[in-house]
Amino acid sequence: MHVLEANNLSKTYGSKRGISYEALHQFNLAVKQGEFIGIMGPSGSGKTTLLNLLSTIDKPSSGKVIINGKTVTSFSRHQLAKFRRKEMGFVFQDFNLLETLTIGENILLPLTLNKIKVKDMTHKLLLITKQLEINDIIDKRIMEVSGGQMQRAAIARALIHNPSIIFADEPTGNLDSKASLQVMNTLSHLQKHYQTATLMVTHDPFAASFCQRVIFIKDGKLYNEIHQGDNRQSFFEDILNMQSLLGGNIHDLQTVRF
Ligand SMILES: Nc1ncnc2c1ncn2[C@@H]1O[C@H](COP(=O)(O)OP(=O)(O)OP(=O)(O)O)[C@@H](O)[C@H]1O
Ligand SMILES: [Mg+2]
Repeated sequence: MHVLEANNLSKTYGSKRGISYEALHQFNLAVKQGEFIGIMGPSGSGKTTLLNLLSTIDKPSSGKVIINGKTVTSFSRHQLAKFRRKEMGFVFQDFNLLETLTIGENILLPLTLNKIKVKDMTHKLLLITKQLEINDIIDKRIMEVSGGQMQRAAIARALIHNPSIIFADEPTGNLDSKASLQVMNTLSHLQKHYQTATLMVTHDPFAASFCQRVIFIKDGKLYNEIHQGDNRQSFFEDILNMQSLLGGNIHDLQTVRF
């Protein structure tokens, strides 16, 4: 069984005002347990639209999303909120951590919301922050740590409740190359370790080279997909080649980091 299936997903924006734009057209995707998928494509091609539909943040105009065998596109708001808290983890470009809380309190949020016992929470917090090498900063405030540490805290928060799927939109977008490397290393290591399916939108071919499969979107449709063989360096080159075939804007051109 697939963790996630998208069938004929379409999204048209703004049809109420008379002017409409189809950002996604009959999109299909199947995600296996523990699979790490990158989503790439030119600016405006529909990547965020797709991620928002798959993660139930937005509703499709037609088509459906099935997660763990449940058709989430027909869930009520209340059902969705509960389902998201249990089954999903989120990582954003701007980290989305709460400034009034410590790093540790931020990471524990999903467990607090799911009413997990304090003893179990402390144990899980120690384990995951050790794995991400942020165990010595759990009592610090957000403003006192680096961008890379914030993003690793966000990854800890996304994983701590053992979700079946993580959604990440440009997780390395605000990081320098050293922090990006650390974040991608830990994210790919941990999603493998916990067998958490991960969908990551990125402009960054370096970040994408950590994925097992990268799908390319153009004009709201699947353009192509490529799979990583046994070598990340050559996958990185395949991604660069596909990007140049695809075209796009200057924002998509990243400096080579190897
Ligand atoms: N809320 C909205 N209302 C109307 N049009 C929208 C809305 N959100 C996105 N669009 C349009 O849909 C298309 C796809 O947008 P989307 O944000 O999914 O692109 P993207 O691939 O994530 O781009 P980027 O790489 O710049 O983040 C764009 O043409 C965009 O202008
Ligand atoms: Mg986007």
